[in-house]
Amino acid sequence: MTTILNTRQIKKRKLSAGSAPLSMLTAYDFQTAQLLNTTNLDLILVGDSLGNVILGYETTVEVTVADMITFASAVKRGSPDKFVIVDLPFGSYSTIESGLKNSIKLFQKTKAEALKLEGANSTSLELIQRLTETGIPIMGHIGLTPQSVHEQGGYYTHGKTKKREEQLKEEATALEKAGCFAIVLECIDKDLAKKITELIRIPTIGIGSGDQTDGQVLVTNDLLMMGPKAPPNFCRPIANLYEIKKELIGNYLEKFKLNEKTLDPKVQ
Ligand code: KIV
Repeated sequence: MTTILNTRQIKKRKLSAGSAPLSMLTAYDFQTAQLLNTTNLDLILVGDSLGNVILGYETTVEVTVADMITFASAVKRGSPDKFVIVDLPFGSYSTIESGLKNSIKLFQKTKAEALKLEGANSTSLELIQRLTETGIPIMGHIGLTPQSVHEQGGYYTHGKTKKREEQLKEEATALEKAGCFAIVLECIDKDLAKKITELIRIPTIGIGSGDQTDGQVLVTNDLLMMGPKAPPNFCRPIANLYEIKKELIGNYLEKFKLNEKTLDPKVQ
């Protein structure tokens, strides 16, 4: 029988304690979730990256709470044995009141095990404290935070200046103090990601932040190359499912067209 991971076990997964690295992949639909449920993957993230890879938006800013409820509920139905984390989308936690209301709704409706939110401003920190007190585990997310892409001025590696380095260390420490059980470090300079990992007692999960974090997360669609565009350069795809599927459908259509001739009423 598979037993689902819990936050007490996840919190202990530090490389420094001799633990195996935490593996996390995204899922947005029932069938992918069913597949991941059969693997030894540790964590599933229903990321708001679904805005880019599933809904075709330019940024994650357009994703809504209703979108997250639809996709995350499907994932949880497909992955009953996995610890599923769901992103709070843009604008859904800009005040404590809206953050509490939307988090409780997302948590109850999706039946996920935890939520994730981006950034560590004073509102987010207070919200994280209130949510963990309410019984909702929260994963933090710092560095490149795609919901703030316009404010951050694009997609790039963070922590290259002393000032930003200090800021990111302070954010990580504050998120741990506020009650997060783990923190995603996205596109953070790899030496700084290592320092942050050593600085805090909860696990760090890196993406584009080197290999010295306590875990790694990737967008499954990038890992399997499910779309026509090359994935970000920190992701080395293990397949090119886009080309494979294109060829299979092309072959099917060629055979279908041959058949079509025999079905033509003029021929029959
Ligand atoms: O939305 C997402 O998929 C994420 C990961 C990139 C960490 O937040």
